[in-house]
Amino acid sequence: MIPIITIDGPVSSGKGTVARLVAARLAWHLLDSGALYRVLGLYATRQGVALDDQPALIRLAENLPVVFREQNGDTAVVLDGEDVSADIRREEVGEMASQVAVLQPVRDALFARQRAFALSPGLVADGRDMGTVVFQDAPLKIYLNASAEERARRRYAQLKEKGFDATLATLIEDIQTRDDRDMNRDVAPLKPADDAVEIDSTSLSVEQVVDAILDEAARRS
Ligand code: C5P
Repeated sequence: MIPIITIDGPVSSGKGTVARLVAARLAWHLLDSGALYRVLGLYATRQGVALDDQPALIRLAENLPVVFREQNGDTAVVLDGEDVSADIRREEVGEMASQVAVLQPVRDALFARQRAFALSPGLVADGRDMGTVVFQDAPLKIYLNASAEERARRRYAQLKEKGFDATLATLIEDIQTRDDRDMNRDVAPLKPADDAVEIDSTSLSVEQVVDAILDEAARRS
């Protein structure tokens, strides 16, 4: 069986950064499942497909022309030949992702594509339902959390660094809206798997979180 570590958690809990570092330390594959939902939201919008047009979204999800290209320790997200790595990180694209993500048939259409990332020697998968739905069989499931204020501060720093404009107050509001939708939706709501190890990263450094996960993985192997 392929070893899998799932890392789920709310917006800006640090799971993306942590997942990348854990995958690098173990030399395992990485699945950023949020990027798939973001690409789908962006693609639909560009094609003029409404974000609640289920049949059209399913068609797009089934044939999503996206590839993840590893380069210099980073992953380029290429949609239809265009590098959209920076575009998909925009706040409004996160919002688009969270809208298409409430539709169960859309999630189903992306299911096999996500499972296909489970390749030897192992996989680190981050998202909202990695441990509860997509990789229920994962031997190690992490639920990463942090206070909403701390998450907004991290997001603010991240956006500023990339040259995007943002205000802290708007970010806290955006984070709460997205958390609310992700946690209270009927399908695959964000919640810790019953067998998840919960880590509150509010006052932990990225390295401390990475080490805690690697320790847990070592204990189980
Ligand atoms: O993790 P990220 O912020 O990139 O995810 C964008 C949105 O995609 C989330 O707010 C969530 O609505 C959706 N998502 C999901 N299931 C996943 C990953 C992301 O529903 N496994």
